[in-house]
Amino acid sequence: MYGMVNKAIEDLVTIKFGEDKWQAIKKRAGVNIESFVTNEAYDDSITYGLVGAASEVLGLAPTQILFAFGEFWVLHTAKLGYGDLLSSAGRDLPEFLDYLPSFHVRVALIFPHLKPPRFETSDRGTNHLTMHYFSHRPGLSEFVKGLFSGIGKMFETPLKVTQTKMKDAGADHDEFLLEWGAAAAA
Ligand code: HEM
Repeated sequence: MYGMVNKAIEDLVTIKFGEDKWQAIKKRAGVNIESFVTNEAYDDSITYGLVGAASEVLGLAPTQILFAFGEFWVLHTAKLGYGDLLSSAGRDLPEFLDYLPSFHVRVALIFPHLKPPRFETSDRGTNHLTMHYFSHRPGLSEFVKGLFSGIGKMFETPLKVTQTKMKDAGADHDEFLLEWGAAAAA
């Protein structure tokens, strides 16, 4: 994945747990890269290794790390680095979710070697939709849940996320029921 992903993990760890923990995580993961270059592509094994090592060093489940990383990605990384891209993707939560399937097409203009996720929506109602998530990569559904949680917070709109199909449990892709506003409180 592009260096900006590994850099974002570094930011999350140093802001929330401190520089010493980050150095310990890198050491445990066997990563001896001093600093990641945002727009350089790195092997996915580096990112997975950092998440695994963070789980061991911080004593948190990998799912907790991935969820926290998803929220941080939206509320910190994307907001600070790509605010215009983010705000042009929708004026409110439902508009943003409707647009999500096209979002990484624009991201790929900045990162040409992107291996992006694919999102599709279906069963759109006034306060709910089904989001389908397809990926070349395994084990990221908790990251996606964290991303949705971050998006709900970004728009200050209650959002309930229920995973209805799981690729890691044998389904052909991950599927989430997203309910917002009054439907999220029900
Ligand atoms: C301005 C905001 C964003 C930028 C710049 C961005 C950029 C990226 C980059 C660089 C990657 C790594 C892929 C690679 O290097 O091949 C990635 C992966 C990913 N992004 Fe985004 N992204 C943004 C927002 C979002 C949002 C809002 C979502 C969903 C709610 C999302 C979902 C994902 C997922 C799930 C992956 C993991 C890759 C996979 O599933 O294979 N991203 N994105």
